[in-house]
Amino acid sequence: MGLSAPPLALYLHFPWCVRKCPYCDFNSHTLQGELPQQAYLAALLADLDVQRPQVGARPIVSLFLGGGTPSLFAPEALGRLFEQVRARVVVVPDAEITLEANPGTIERGRFADYRAAGINRVSLGAQSFAAAQLETLGRIHSAQDTHVAVAELRAAGIDNFNLDLMYALPGQDLAGALSDLRTAIGLEPAHISHYQLTMEPGTVFGGRPPKGLPDDELSFTMQQACQAELAAAGYMQYETSAYARAGVQCVHNLNYWRFGDYLGVGAGAHGKLTRVAVDAVAAADTGGAQVGITRTVREREPRRYLARGHAEAPPTTAVAHADLPFEFMMNALRLVEGFGEDLFETRTGLAWSELSAPLVRLGERGLLESIPGNRSGWRPTELGQRFLNDAIAEFLPTRPGV
Ligand SMILES: C[S@@+](CC[C@H](N)C(=O)[O-])C[C@H]1O[C@@H](n2cnc3c(N)ncnc32)[C@H](O)[C@@H]1O
Ligand code: SF4
Repeated sequence: MGLSAPPLALYLHFPWCVRKCPYCDFNSHTLQGELPQQAYLAALLADLDVQRPQVGARPIVSLFLGGGTPSLFAPEALGRLFEQVRARVVVVPDAEITLEANPGTIERGRFADYRAAGINRVSLGAQSFAAAQLETLGRIHSAQDTHVAVAELRAAGIDNFNLDLMYALPGQDLAGALSDLRTAIGLEPAHISHYQLTMEPGTVFGGRPPKGLPDDELSFTMQQACQAELAAAGYMQYETSAYARAGVQCVHNLNYWRFGDYLGVGAGAHGKLTRVAVDAVAAADTGGAQVGITRTVREREPRRYLARGHAEAPPTTAVAHADLPFEFMMNALRLVEGFGEDLFETRTGLAWSELSAPLVRLGERGLLESIPGNRSGWRPTELGQRFLNDAIAEFLPTRPGV
């Protein structure tokens, strides 16, 4: 089949928050002083300028403004940013444009202004609707703020919105997890992301876990009960933590999980590009680079990114062939739909036969199953979804002498 160029997306990172949450290991920083709005947006555009020769006229199918808290940035300023982005790269007219928003940052009328600026999808960080848990999580908003933010979304005509919820929270029991979920479902979002709270190294909770965390068994019971509740309400699981009503899965995130391409601009942003150019003319379009898959990463620290970290092309590393099966599976195995020969071969340029041995082993362990009626399709079983890391580990490259 051979390598071919996958869909291309654009990720823009906004690294500041009103206050850093104790569980969060995203590249997010408590804002000290005034938001450097104009300087940061100018840096994002300069960043795009040095990266855009890599994509030439390839159309961008989705934009995702993630954080941090991009909803700290004014709607009008983001509207100007989108105009400038469209002047630099080809963005398809109906591109999905998602804004991550914290309910504590939404004033009256703000979503209407975001919509006028071009945003057509919002991901709202609800996390929980219980006052005690919101406090333990260090959130800057109440449950009521989330209700108000959803009313604002509706008033703005943004029906395509996601609610982020976490479960297995300190002091939470099964009834509490279900109550949070039922409240979220009652708000009728298009999409729900349902994450198990994890203790991440380098965070406040990672260093000193809070009291009252549910054990593994209770966390799993919560997950299963919530999954059944979501399915009964018409939210179909399509990824480890993502549930959506029919037709409104997140285009941008699906592209990651299907091992698509993306440019990453902003502090700490990651990018991934596939180069399929084989002749001189096409090679010139892609910056003269070789065939294969490359990754980029930007300076994480916002002030350093602003000072110099955005101005030159980001460091680029080629993904070694030996690492490609593992990298592909880290994404594709999260998908309930699984993957097949076509996707693997066109996205990695490797032969399907490279996967024969691990697929057989995972089938025998009951972690993966072949998809009925699809000769070359595989997907995780329920057991595989639960022990995803074990399944992915089968694809780790074997290094000589290790
Ligand atoms: C970048 S934040 C989203 C938007 C916004 N900053 C907010 O918090 O409202 C992405 C989401 O990841 C989830 N998340 C962050 N840290 C997590 C952790 N340690 N365990 C589970 N989920 C986590 C939260 O649900 C959070 O809303
Ligand atoms: S969860 Fe959201 S608001 Fe909290 S620190 Fe992380 S990015 Fe910021």
